[in-house]
Amino acid sequence: MELNTKICIHPNEIKTEALGIGIYADGFLTKIADLLDQASNGFIRDILNTEFLSNEQKTLILYKIPGIMAKRIILVKLGNKSDYSMKIHANAEEEFAQACVNIKVSEGVSTFLLNAHNRNIRDYARISAISIGKSIYFYSLTFSKEHFNLKPKLKKITQLINTIDDHEVNIGLQEGNAIASGMELSRTLGDLPSNICTPSYLCKEALKLEQESDLIRVQIIDHDKIKSLGMNSFLSVARGSNEAPFLIVLRYKSQEQEKSDIGPTILVGKGVTFDSGGISIKASNHMDEMKYDMCGAASVLGTFHALKKLKLPQEIIGIIPTCENLPSGKANKPGDIVTSMSGQTIEILNTDAEGRLLLCDALTYVKRFSPEVVIDIATLTGACVVALGNVNSGLFSKDSYLSNDLIKAGKQIMDPVWQMPMDDDYQTQLESNFADIANIGNSSGAGSVTAACFLSRFTSSYRWAHLDIAGTAWTKGKNKGSTGRPVPMLLQFLLNQAEQRRKKL
Ligand code: BES
Ligand code: MN
Ligand code: ZN
Repeated sequence: MELNTKICIHPNEIKTEALGIGIYADGFLTKIADLLDQASNGFIRDILNTEFLSNEQKTLILYKIPGIMAKRIILVKLGNKSDYSMKIHANAEEEFAQACVNIKVSEGVSTFLLNAHNRNIRDYARISAISIGKSIYFYSLTFSKEHFNLKPKLKKITQLINTIDDHEVNIGLQEGNAIASGMELSRTLGDLPSNICTPSYLCKEALKLEQESDLIRVQIIDHDKIKSLGMNSFLSVARGSNEAPFLIVLRYKSQEQEKSDIGPTILVGKGVTFDSGGISIKASNHMDEMKYDMCGAASVLGTFHALKKLKLPQEIIGIIPTCENLPSGKANKPGDIVTSMSGQTIEILNTDAEGRLLLCDALTYVKRFSPEVVIDIATLTGACVVALGNVNSGLFSKDSYLSNDLIKAGKQIMDPVWQMPMDDDYQTQLESNFADIANIGNSSGAGSVTAACFLSRFTSSYRWAHLDIAGTAWTKGKNKGSTGRPVPMLLQFLLNQAEQRRKKL
């Protein structure tokens, strides 16, 4: 997507296929709408006397407006004037871009950033780019060729801005554009079926990132090497499938690598390309959705995709344990006991609690990098969907600085996370009569907390947070599909981390 800016001087003279402007719900015109109204002799204000403000329609397209050079004006309803918020702004940009896509124009001019003047304009610009990116997402890989004709034609959106916002807006737009491209990759991978998006497919995607950027290096660790590392917990899950498992390691280092002894920030993503449950098999209803069980991995790959363009100063490492969870003659059976890489033995009471069996070994593996912080991202529990639905990702961490930074980043970029408890008292639910730890809680309740508690047993040597994205990584129902979350939150966290360190130097 091409995004640029233009200083707003004579808006009536702007030549474009589509000019997006806002109308407040309480009937006030935005400043820009007012200017255009004057240029068109009251044409815009007249609309307020139609049913547009009271009906459900969010946008209205006007043609051939006297005194105005733009071919069309796309009016977008905002909230009340006093309520202008980032959320309303984001929705307006998305509605406008969506309208541009629907009428198949290739270019448009947006004016919504003018409404955010005097606010944190870089945050608003970033959100603009992300919202536009959302409306041009197009999944086509598994349709027949004709479907490709429906691909959005929209290629470029120009933002009208005030002079003094120029620099900040351009930075925000670039950041948002990079984030949007990361979300796009993440969504595509989540949407692909498991017969295409296999563990080796994820490896190829990682290697593509390495080819596309001098700053990214990728190492693929195969079955034999995983075995010699002692990752028996991870391998016990992989054994049920004919697809080979992999451990993908991505390393991002900027050219002007910061001269400090701060360790890398590590992102660990669950990459179960299909989760049937294994011998503890899932119900067949909606089982197709378990192709999304690699969305943690997809968010790591999406984040690295964005890193290619963001030029952050810090060192960032991505770790993806990836395999399938299927029943077979070699699969894990309830009651089986494995020895994890950490040496702790695990009683597998439910083979469907497989994500933690991959992650625990990956979380042990990352110790070798002496990380500054480790964040794992996983579609880990149905219980997290029950607790938080599809609004907040679940955040689990005993590190209050890290939690606060993640919560702040989530709010800032409208990809929210909600902190869940992790009291030691939950740990007793994981006791086993036959091994050091059981892979599920022995009493019902708090399923997403006990999953986090399980992981915590492997993370004692570094600062750590766990994100359960089971509810936020995709949308159910008619608009079924991957969301690209929490790529925005992760990147905002990394952007803020870079900023913080710059200030300290
Ligand atoms: N991948 C699932 C979690 C999941 C469920 C994600 C629904 C998205 C939607 C995970 O591997 C799983 O099966 N978890 C079990 C854990 C249970 C056996 C303790 C669950 O949530 O049912
Ligand atoms: Mn499972
Ligand atoms: Zn799973």
